[in-house]
Amino acid sequence: MIIKFIDFIFWGNNKLEKQLQDKTVKITLQNKKISIKNIETQTMNQKKLNIAVLPGDGIGPEIVEQGLNVTKAVCKKFGHELSYQFAIVGACAIDEVGEPYPKATHDLCMQSDAVLFGAIGHPKYDNDPSAKVRPEQGLLKMRKDLGLYANIRPVTTFPSLLHKSPLRADLVEGADFMCIRELTGGMYFGRPQGRSEDGNTAYDTCVYTREEVERILHLAYKYAGQRNKKVTIVDKANVLATSRLWRQIGQEIAPQYPDIETEFMFVDNAAMRIIQWPKSFDVLVTENLFGDILTDEASVITGSMGMLPSASVGIHTSVFEPIHGSYPQAAGKNIANPLATILSAALMFEYAFGMMEEGALIRKAVTASIEAGIVTEDIADNATAYKTTEVGEWIVNYISK
Ligand code: IPM
Ligand code: MN
Repeated sequence: MIIKFIDFIFWGNNKLEKQLQDKTVKITLQNKKISIKNIETQTMNQKKLNIAVLPGDGIGPEIVEQGLNVTKAVCKKFGHELSYQFAIVGACAIDEVGEPYPKATHDLCMQSDAVLFGAIGHPKYDNDPSAKVRPEQGLLKMRKDLGLYANIRPVTTFPSLLHKSPLRADLVEGADFMCIRELTGGMYFGRPQGRSEDGNTAYDTCVYTREEVERILHLAYKYAGQRNKKVTIVDKANVLATSRLWRQIGQEIAPQYPDIETEFMFVDNAAMRIIQWPKSFDVLVTENLFGDILTDEASVITGSMGMLPSASVGIHTSVFEPIHGSYPQAAGKNIANPLATILSAALMFEYAFGMMEEGALIRKAVTASIEAGIVTEDIADNATAYKTTEVGEWIVNYISK
């Protein structure tokens, strides 16, 4: 890697460890770790990309294979050097080592510049609520340990798929919004959680701190500033104490962004508005559980859940994954839609490496594949459905042209 500082250049064995928000950079210089404050850096166009690949369970390995092939093709095209390493997560990790997010997997993620993730989950756990170790715990642990406090799910529509949407084409056409879901707080992580001794009462706890709310709201304003300058803060402030904290902090922060419109909306109303008037949203930001529910709803607007990518970002390495699950019924059949994972690879280029051209090329290739009808059965119009591998290969060829 070549690192260009304002007045001098490092190359060869010198490694840029981390570029922090306060402009401190940590570098390894002739094998000595040092950090420099207040410096502007700029990495040169051709880079070394070091990614962790976590296929997970169900259709995960099949779709991630296509996402990785597309990543390789883009690197080849643009002259980037790609190195990648696989690691286990989810039900397959429980089978192999007894836990869903093993330390070796976490260590690999921490050392990588980005993580490409498939899906986790297995029916044997879904049908056994008493199982003590569950694949989902691995996902939650990964989010917590990597500090991935924001899950970004862009909802965009593809003109040639409008007829697949459950909504009328005129309602969906041109819908383009970004859901930002808080990912490491709320009911998913609040304690206590459990059952009374007699087993007849159960409880979860929803907790949010000021710091957690502030950082995600600032992120939402940052993205809105780059988009259509509107933030919708979704809560249930008429009932929940945590939501009232969200709303209070939202009211404090909004005046700091005078050129951005702020809208507060109750979650039940937001669920309705997403199907009634999806075009009214630009950036929608909300807490963990509301975000989980609303993004599944938002995803089908595009015609298939198999189309939506996501980026989880925060303190350590970012994770890029499709929003759909492990779809065990389709596993091993070569029929799963790889597009959400391929589009997640596009987000990886953009968010993790700042490579906008690379991301745009992937998106162009995906649009072209849909227009050419090279799609899997979930979005195919008639009998001509293509296999997962065929869709992936078509996109790789398009990129390599
Ligand atoms: C998601 C999934 C997960 C979640 C599950 C698998 C734990 O639904 O990423 O949206 O609820 O966060
Ligand atoms: Mn979900």
